[in-house]
Amino acid sequence: SILIIDFGSQVTQLIARRVREAGVYCEIAPFNTAEEAFERMKPRGVILSGGPSSVIDSESPRAPQAVFDSGLPLLAICYGQQTLHQQLGGKVVTSDQKEFGRAFIEVVAPSALFDGLWNVGETHQVWMSHGDRVETLAPGFEIVAKSEGAPFAIATNEEAKRYSLMFHPEVVHTPDGGKLLANFARHICGCAGDWTMAGFRDAKIAEIREQVGDGKVICGLSGGVDSAVAAVLIYEAIGEQLTCVFVDHGLMRAGEAEQVVSLFRNSYNIPLVHVDASKDFLGGLKGVTDPEKKRKFIGAEFISVFEAEAKRIGGADFLAQGTLYPDVIESVSFTGGPSVTIKSHHNVGGLPERMNMKLVEPLRELFKDEVRVLGRELGLPEAFVARHPFPGPGLAIRIPGEVTEEKCDILRKADSIYLEEIRNAGLYDAIWQAFAVLLPVQTVGVMGDYRTYDFVCALRAVTSVDGMTADVYPFDAVFLSRAATRIVNEVQGINRVVYDYTSKPPGTIEWE
Ligand code: XMP
Repeated sequence: SILIIDFGSQVTQLIARRVREAGVYCEIAPFNTAEEAFERMKPRGVILSGGPSSVIDSESPRAPQAVFDSGLPLLAICYGQQTLHQQLGGKVVTSDQKEFGRAFIEVVAPSALFDGLWNVGETHQVWMSHGDRVETLAPGFEIVAKSEGAPFAIATNEEAKRYSLMFHPEVVHTPDGGKLLANFARHICGCAGDWTMAGFRDAKIAEIREQVGDGKVICGLSGGVDSAVAAVLIYEAIGEQLTCVFVDHGLMRAGEAEQVVSLFRNSYNIPLVHVDASKDFLGGLKGVTDPEKKRKFIGAEFISVFEAEAKRIGGADFLAQGTLYPDVIESVSFTGGPSVTIKSHHNVGGLPERMNMKLVEPLRELFKDEVRVLGRELGLPEAFVARHPFPGPGLAIRIPGEVTEEKCDILRKADSIYLEEIRNAGLYDAIWQAFAVLLPVQTVGVMGDYRTYDFVCALRAVTSVDGMTADVYPFDAVFLSRAATRIVNEVQGINRVVYDYTSKPPGTIEWE
């Protein structure tokens, strides 16, 4: 296994993800408990993550001395690289030449790190992010790759199997980064590469049993894939110590609430309480037009309905949620700046503190596509697992302006037709997320001999790896015109359809 020591980088989880993709088990430990994790895990290698601190600051985090003393292979990234050189006798200084973003490095000497991948003299794209600069390398280190702004882009001590990188190999903007990390984990550290999601499942089941003991767990279902996968995994671990509560806010897509209830009750027999709270949600949304107010209201209402139900059930010590890694960080900036709140996600925060319960969040390290793999591993039906992501606040954030039951009904119809066309065209799995948005704008149209004055519907479809960035799906004109024609013909209340051609960034996937 590999231990990843976290110095607080926004993208530490991506390191873990790349290591998992190489078929190697890994764990992330924050720097202040890393020594314990190191002794317990007995890893074959250690990765030091990036982080926002400056090693010049005497209070800044350090890697445990035990890691260096062990003589194990070591890969150090960005901040990790600086602390490595500083701790091993090199020198780091502040630099006024900060370098962020895409950069090209030139390979100047061979290294086991890129053996079989890069050759001397070649140039490769990487994603730089650094402010401070290593001025003197620690003894035993040699430069193996450099760029104009970064003379020590990669410096290694081949004999000691220590590799230090000034850039982030874990992000997609370093195209060969995954291979570098795989090379490190498998060839340099000698990990077998036979770890799979089945192993993750078993490890998590053991962890949940250990955490929960004979306590009771209550799990909030949103109707989506994440919370369902979390619930089934927890059920495998502790059986009927788990009760699921599905707070139905009435803002789901067509047929979705029924599907979840039937899946849990009939296919799995997992204890489930279905609370139909649609009246409360729609009532509270009356007159609310501001996106953040909608999100905050739905989040708060969800908490209050859930809390009342949990009290009624009684005796639960733990609260389970299907929180994924991207939910935890909300927004990622690769540029090292502070992370700002773009949208308040209603599935994180708030609930646990108020309810004085301990959290069980078995999917916290995973990305969406990994959750799908886990869902399949747990035997969830393919049609359910492959479903496009759906936001917690549901259709409310796909209806800019005031949300009414009537608008929800119109949107549901348009959305179903759109998705049906996508399925018929065999495109569903090629798209990360596709949905209709009902605009608060009415336009004039003509149908038969009549004038119409109805709403505009926008269609959106994007491809993405993790929802953090997205590209527009390039439908052909024939497809779009078929979908538009069907929607206008079949959905009363819509007389015009437009296609959203905005990538993320600068747009977000959802409209609110
Ligand atoms: P944005 O709109 O921020 O969305 O580009 C990125 C991904 O997150 C989903 N999303 C949410 N998921 N609760 C969720 O569980 C939320 O409040 C929420 N808001 C957005 C969105 O559908 C997309 O997949």
